[in-house]
Amino acid sequence: MRLTCTVNGDRHEVDDVWEGESLLYVLRERMGLPGSKNACEQGECGSCTVYLDGVPVCACLVAAGQAQGREVGTVEGLAGPGELHPVQEAFLEAGAVQCGFCTPGLLVATDDLVRRSRAEGRRPADAEIREALAGNLCRCTGYEKILDAVRLAADRMAGEAR
Ligand code: FES
Ligand code: FES
Repeated sequence: MRLTCTVNGDRHEVDDVWEGESLLYVLRERMGLPGSKNACEQGECGSCTVYLDGVPVCACLVAAGQAQGREVGTVEGLAGPGELHPVQEAFLEAGAVQCGFCTPGLLVATDDLVRRSRAEGRRPADAEIREALAGNLCRCTGYEKILDAVRLAADRMAGEAR
């Protein structure tokens, strides 16, 4: 089948997509966007988190056909070319990246959390951060530095125009 969707603001058409393919597979193997990682392929680890019509989802659990006509946002689209998004800067500065395999999913999940909180004119509480990132597993960091990074990103983004 042919899949047509928008990814990071660009329209994509991909032919010969097999019905059993996941959105994650199409992004990585057919569209050349390997930022979203494939770790468990079972919806357990969050390393494949992308936006689908503005809502974070595990791309490994989304059939490619479900993305037909929809807007997908991946970690590659968080910042402009050659730039870092405030969430990416915060993760680097807080030392929240070790092997980095979980990082793309955490960045998207953090961006979503901080945006939602900011829209309500506040910063996320620690309990909200833990809940929002509960589906994103990291084997390396022990999570404390990730929490620091989310707090830092929330502080930085609170000062941006809404
Ligand atoms: S690869 Fe999708 S949740 Fe783990
Ligand atoms: S930094 Fe290695 S899994 Fe999170």
